[in-house]
Amino acid sequence: MRKPLIAGNWKMFKNAAEARTFIYAFKQAVADVKDREAVLCVPYTDLWAAAEALKGTPIGLGSQNVHWEAQGAFTGEISVGMLKEIGCQYAVVGHSERRQYFGETDTTVNKRTLAALAGGLTPITCIGETLQEREANKTFAVLERQIKEGLKGLPNPTAVVIAYEPVWAIGTGKTATPAQAQEAHAFVRQEFAKLYGTAAQSVRILYGGSVKPDNMGQLMSQGDIDGGLVGGASLEAESFAKIVKFEKAAAVTK
Ligand code: 13P
Repeated sequence: MRKPLIAGNWKMFKNAAEARTFIYAFKQAVADVKDREAVLCVPYTDLWAAAEALKGTPIGLGSQNVHWEAQGAFTGEISVGMLKEIGCQYAVVGHSERRQYFGETDTTVNKRTLAALAGGLTPITCIGETLQEREANKTFAVLERQIKEGLKGLPNPTAVVIAYEPVWAIGTGKTATPAQAQEAHAFVRQEFAKLYGTAAQSVRILYGGSVKPDNMGQLMSQGDIDGGLVGGASLEAESFAKIVKFEKAAAVTK
């Protein structure tokens, strides 16, 4: 059984005071949720305040990146140990914005993913094609490369969380249709199985890209979609709580 995981990625939004206000409202709004995990991936400067505010709740805490070395001369980076000390359980790795603007590659994504796993932090490793790649029919080739290179050598493959985020759907209001997302997720699971066999049945694959309260239920009705990585709609407590509380759609439009 794959327990649904819904993670909010705040990106570079909210200071510590705003994080506290959000969490105060959010933890009440999801207090009755039992059968799924909710996680907040917040800016580094919010981590301490968020960890304090989340104490005593089952809501997870995550960073938006993590370095592969334990310490050293790596200005602007942060280590697994530093994040664990604060109380982080998760780290987003290889987000398309890191790949696009900050030179992240499949090689560095792999190093960060391995380091997180080795240190007991759950990486939420992101993959996904750009619009150009999709239009050139390269979606599957890109995903195959990102999985083979970015997720190779995992000692405990079921501990990783994969996020499929088509770049063209991020922040654009253009969600992949449930069928498009399912097709990609099934492919990701199949490629992961080529590397790790039956572990692919247990690995959680999240969908990200314009997830909103009104499309989450349909997305979650798909067999290979195990949760969401939510940007814009995770910034408001009520809307993120609605996403966490998704109800699977009765009928899925294919
Ligand atoms: P949006 O939900 O704002 O499209 O962002 C998705 C995303 O990048 C989550 O990591």
